[in-house]
Amino acid sequence: MTSPRVVVLTGAGISAESGVPTFRDADGLWEGHRVEDVATPEAYELQPSAVHAFYDARRAALARVAPNPAHHALAALEAAYGDDLLVVTQNIDDLHERAGATRVLHMHGELRSALCRGCGGRYAWDGDLGDRPPCPGCGATELRPDVVWFGEVPYEMDRIFAALERADLFVSIGTSGAVYPAAGFVQAASAYGARTLELNLVPSDGSHFFDETRHGPAGRLVPAWVAELLG
Ligand code: APR
Repeated sequence: MTSPRVVVLTGAGISAESGVPTFRDADGLWEGHRVEDVATPEAYELQPSAVHAFYDARRAALARVAPNPAHHALAALEAAYGDDLLVVTQNIDDLHERAGATRVLHMHGELRSALCRGCGGRYAWDGDLGDRPPCPGCGATELRPDVVWFGEVPYEMDRIFAALERADLFVSIGTSGAVYPAAGFVQAASAYGARTLELNLVPSDGSHFFDETRHGPAGRLVPAWVAELLG
């Protein structure tokens, strides 16, 4: 039996039950900060220490959270589908990988990575950046969080669109559909001929673009959907 080709897009909602705060749910603040104060190149130019402190705290907080049943279910789907499943995540946490997934594209970068503004290298990183450590590649003290800030170009767009073009099924999990280009993937996948499914706590901004929507917590909806596929 051949598997359908599936592209899954995940957002902050898939990690919410692990205890990682989402961006737009509560009061519009992310851990007490306005997004534009910590997640823009302009904020970094103006207040690099504040931006480093914010991301250093988020990176350290990863040690206190764990994957939930939704991450584990996607890893189980990958174990069954192999190359026919691609997870594209907007999340900068590492919970998909810690659940065992390997085919994951982090389009908005990763907390556990540092980007050198000197040489352009990207380096696996678990410590702080606020104390301005030297770049492992070039020695410059120019390491910044390897996250895609507002106004910057997301990673891996060529591979993502190539996968959307081939997909039989596109599934969006735990994302508000407020941030492009990810918010446009559902329309692209539809135009390429895929069936589309939304799994989200509440209808997202783009719910009406999906062929089917299911609403509830990802920790319940995702394992149920994977169980259906693996039948
Ligand atoms: N299960 C499923 N969905 C959930 C859950 C849950 N337990 N909890 C919250 N959600 C849903 C919310 O209803 C919301 O629609 O997850 C979505 C989270 O939306 P956002 O906070 O906007 O997060 P996301 O869509 O990932 O944001 C996109 O915006 O700030 C930038 O770069 C940042 O990657 C981020 C991007």
